[in-house]
Amino acid sequence: MSEDPPSGSSDEHYAAVAARYEQSAFYDPASSYNRWLIPHVVAALGLEPASRFADLGGGTGAFTAALSEAAGLTTLPSVVEPSPLREQATARGLPGLDEDAATFAGSPGVADWDALLLKEVVHHLSLGAFPEICLGLARRLSAHGRLVTITRPVEPDYPLFSAAKIVWRMNQPPASRYVSALEAAGLEVEEQEHAFRFEIPREEWFTLVRNRFWSTFSAFSDEQLEAGIRELEERYKDPILSFEDRLVFLVAKHAGP
Ligand SMILES: C[S@@+](CC[C@H](N)C(=O)[O-])C[C@H]1O[C@@H](n2cnc3c(N)ncnc32)[C@H](O)[C@@H]1O
Repeated sequence: MSEDPPSGSSDEHYAAVAARYEQSAFYDPASSYNRWLIPHVVAALGLEPASRFADLGGGTGAFTAALSEAAGLTTLPSVVEPSPLREQATARGLPGLDEDAATFAGSPGVADWDALLLKEVVHHLSLGAFPEICLGLARRLSAHGRLVTITRPVEPDYPLFSAAKIVWRMNQPPASRYVSALEAAGLEVEEQEHAFRFEIPREEWFTLVRNRFWSTFSAFSDEQLEAGIRELEERYKDPILSFEDRLVFLVAKHAGP
């Protein structure tokens, strides 16, 4: 497995998809998927009204804002986001930090956050740099604070064409690699899995793939995506695709005495 971040700039990918980012059910804060997910994330982060919360790689801030509203936060959460998606977060009125996770982790604060979230972000970080990032985030976490990493399995249930499955696997380290780095930073980690069943019209899924709604698909040219979609048309004849989104939550907190 490569210790390097995935090839290509993720900033470029997110700049390209910025205008339609929240159109998919995965990133539309009002979708039934996100209405199911939000309480799980609020609980994992242990959010209370007074929590000081930063969403690292928080994208457009839509999910951040929904968490804030669900938890009744009295201080606005910060969105730490290196790509142009950050402008949508600041347009929502959320404080935006133009930093990547490593820069944020390396900043001098101590115990200045109660809740830190890395949702669907760690696959963009270099595994080689992750232990140092964990050390910095552990330093910034308050005594009872939580750092929650949300990632996905190496072998997901999605209807992916063969080449996309390979790209997914290459870019998706197993959760155990993150657990060991979190533990080495002095945190204790609870691993949870939460699954949501999607029932989605075939054509809708193909449109998401064509729109490169995940960075996985930005590895492919338009022609390659069309070939991949033809492969999926052959494999899935049912007009409705049914699959599980399995999310792995790593809930880390300072180890007790
Ligand atoms: C799949 S999106 C998830 C966005 C948001 N967390 C959500 O769940 O809606 C991945 C996000 O990670 C951000 N990202 C990529 N590399 C990053 C890095 N090194 N540090 C922090 N964020 C990063 C991207 O710009 C993008 O906003």
